[in-house]
Amino acid sequence: MNNRRSFIKKSAALGMGAFGINSLFNELHAADFQSAERFWKDDIGNNEDYWAVIQEAYQASKSDIIILNNGGVSPSPLVVQEALEKYNRQAAQGPSYYMWRIMDKGREPLRQRLAALGGCDPEEVAINRNATEALNTVIFGLPLQKGDEVIGMKFDYPNMMNAWRQRQLRDGIVYKQLSFEFPIENDAMIVKAYEDAITPATKIIHLTHVVNWVGQIMPVKKICQMAHKKGVEVIVDGAHSFGLLDFKIADLECDYFGTSLHKFLSAPVGSGMMWVKKDKIAKIWPLVCNHEPTSADIRKFETLGTRSFCIEQAIGEAINFQEAIGIKRKQERIHYLKKYWAEKARQIPGVKIHTSLKPEYSCAIAGVSVDGLKPTELDGKLLNDFKIHTVGISYESVQCVRVTPHVYTKISDLDKLVGALEKISKKA
Ligand SMILES: Cc1ncc(COP(=O)(O)O)c(C=O)c1O
Repeated sequence: MNNRRSFIKKSAALGMGAFGINSLFNELHAADFQSAERFWKDDIGNNEDYWAVIQEAYQASKSDIIILNNGGVSPSPLVVQEALEKYNRQAAQGPSYYMWRIMDKGREPLRQRLAALGGCDPEEVAINRNATEALNTVIFGLPLQKGDEVIGMKFDYPNMMNAWRQRQLRDGIVYKQLSFEFPIENDAMIVKAYEDAITPATKIIHLTHVVNWVGQIMPVKKICQMAHKKGVEVIVDGAHSFGLLDFKIADLECDYFGTSLHKFLSAPVGSGMMWVKKDKIAKIWPLVCNHEPTSADIRKFETLGTRSFCIEQAIGEAINFQEAIGIKRKQERIHYLKKYWAEKARQIPGVKIHTSLKPEYSCAIAGVSVDGLKPTELDGKLLNDFKIHTVGISYESVQCVRVTPHVYTKISDLDKLVGALEKISKKA
């Protein structure tokens, strides 16, 4: 710990490299990160000296409760919290001036940085409040006619399934839902299920990149390639993939992509992003109206009324933090953490893991169950007896507790989880 503190002093003389000169990240963490790099070897996931520096950057790593529901919403590192407080204090002095005249100017640079992170054109990126808003904008904005078909699955996110159901009720579209028995370690089988469901009336496939219920990574690119051959567009829900998996939006070959930034990117709660392929922007009606609803300018989706520009601007520090770690490292670390606890847990008699442990098929999330206990009972025991916060999932065929570590999760906390599962399973 003292050693870590001394990084800051020792490194004060170091150049600040890639980080913006005025960023809070520089003040708080840049030197820490640069020094931590010295610990770096080729072993990506388990370099505990390096990850200890990252853990220190999150208040959540010192919480009284072990937080293992980062799939729900993630805490922000201190640097993001402080940025938000700084902007809130500034805005409080006169929101109409500081938000609309000062912070508003930060939106275009932020758009560029988000686009760089997503590997796409800034003119295809709109900043909003969450994945629900992003994806509902696309779902309600598509010019679909009565009888047009949309293929989704029962394991998409409820807010999106409900949006499609509402279009079905209101506009007479046909909403079909596939069902899968996860985990599946066979991309071709998943692609074929979507392909078999396509009819001449199919216009859209709605896909969830990482299935929130149980962590399955869907073969998005393969499904997009298949769908495009048949003239079908693809909407991707990237709520659990953006900021976690090492991919560029353009590489997915989808048509529309929506995500929250308050999950794996660790941006402030209430931050999101939508991406629309350039030549599709004009045809999507904005959900909240703009004076030029048929414009090809992505900014038409940002007429969201008065909202917190402070939250929006603090996203910048979350990007600094993300870039300092690097997406490849982050993905490998979080997958390592998942595998660490899940491999031990599945050796315990009566304990079952419901998610593939292979990096191609899952990353952060894994489902776990203990024979004889309902998901809510296991969730309750973990919280009440061991102060471990997870989430019980009881939906369709998925009956488990969902565990999601993040970069700040300590190995010792995962050991406590495994210990708790051992004790609970003995009593069950
Ligand atoms: C797959 C998926 N999509 C969308 C969402 C919605 O995210 P938000 O509530 O931030 O809009 C979630 C939330 O957990 C999710 O798991």
